[in-house]
Amino acid sequence: MTSVLSTPTDSPDIEHASRDRISTLQLERLRWSLQHAYDNVAHYTKAFDDAGVHPSDLKDLSDLAKFPFTSKQDLRANYPFGMFAVPQNQVSRIHASSGTTGRPTVVGYTAKDIDNWADLIARSLRAGGVKPSDKVHVAYGYGLFTGGLGAHYGAERLGCTVIPMSGGMTDRQIQLIQDFEPDAILVTPSYMLTIVDAMVKKGIDPASTSLTTGVFGAEPWTEEMRTEIENTLAMDAVDIYGLSEVMGPGVAMECVETKDGLHIWEDHFYPEIIDPVTGEVLPDGEEGELVFTSLTKEAMPIVRYRTRDLTRLLPGTARTMRRMQKVTGRTDDMIILRGVNLFPTQIEELILGVPALAPQFQCVLDRAGRMDNLTVRVEARPDVPSDQYALLGVTLQKLVKNRIGVTVNVEVLPQAALERSIGKARRLIDNRPATRS
Ligand code: DLL
Repeated sequence: MTSVLSTPTDSPDIEHASRDRISTLQLERLRWSLQHAYDNVAHYTKAFDDAGVHPSDLKDLSDLAKFPFTSKQDLRANYPFGMFAVPQNQVSRIHASSGTTGRPTVVGYTAKDIDNWADLIARSLRAGGVKPSDKVHVAYGYGLFTGGLGAHYGAERLGCTVIPMSGGMTDRQIQLIQDFEPDAILVTPSYMLTIVDAMVKKGIDPASTSLTTGVFGAEPWTEEMRTEIENTLAMDAVDIYGLSEVMGPGVAMECVETKDGLHIWEDHFYPEIIDPVTGEVLPDGEEGELVFTSLTKEAMPIVRYRTRDLTRLLPGTARTMRRMQKVTGRTDDMIILRGVNLFPTQIEELILGVPALAPQFQCVLDRAGRMDNLTVRVEARPDVPSDQYALLGVTLQKLVKNRIGVTVNVEVLPQAALERSIGKARRLIDNRPATRS
């Protein structure tokens, strides 16, 4: 195997490096990564050979488009360790994402990968406004999920005092937030809302806690949700993105000073946006599916991984590395209702525009005969009398019809009627019978 030690280490000023310097580093690292994958992972040897490409064909960054994509199916087909590029005795850690169906997706890290990951999370937290002396409450799940341990190592690397709370046990979360007085919380936005609800129920004002920064990710959330969280908790809410197949949290991060999308840590991950149907690479600024190639990963290099996340690439602002717009949704979560495409995040935006509605909602798809129906189930704010529910339902229905162009059913429910999330919220419930072709 090519020496992984040849991968250059980051210099501290890389976050503000010129585009030329970033591209030069990317090309050098991309060459290494493709060769490493080709030499050490049978799947890539075969996939590159079948596509008639060789790592030496990469003369320029744009040549990456000649290389084949990798999908979740490829990872499943090589379950559990077939995508690893190093012998097992060099693998320090394994994570896995549960997935809704079938086998979990397994990922591995060498000690150096874990070290890079901690650096990138530390970099992310700093960009998000977390300071070395801060107390950080980690409420992402610990275990096979990358959220908890990923955040943990990075917060330690930054020099924070880490409170490894994990997800769940909401009353305990609240007690420790009150007693330990953390400065920052790292949690999914939907679980933050669950914690807020429980605080209110106990008569605690969520704005009165010590928390000043929330680092939210692992699921899509909107600008409207940011406003809701920032106002309710009197904190800065910033977005962190990542996925296990590429590393875990910390692939991209929003900077607190601009809150204008997430800077992709392009010195470690090369992004492309493709047309999800044709696979064609789209220019920066156009919306499509995000694809990543790892530049430094040793244990599990990943080439052109199709994330299924929809976004667009934008130029850098607070940092020179390119930004990705907040993820609108995943191709898997796209609802096609009578020919109109829509995402649960669009419903979230509209719900949060109606002050009497709470940000707790679910989209339920059913089929009646040949017709698909979407029912939005949403809770009213606690102080709203139930005789106003019907009217509120009509208000939301009209908003959806006017803004998105489809008719949906709306059920307005009292507080606590919907199941609460302790990790990633399940916004879409598809009750339609499996389609037969
Ligand atoms: O969710 C890693 C993570 C943990 C990210 C904690 C941020 C914070 P997976 O379980 O593999 O990894 O799920 C990855 O979650 O492809 C997106 O669809 C979604 N996702 C992650 N972060 C965001 C975000 C972790 N900030 C999948 N906005 C990804 C929207 C997100 N979607």
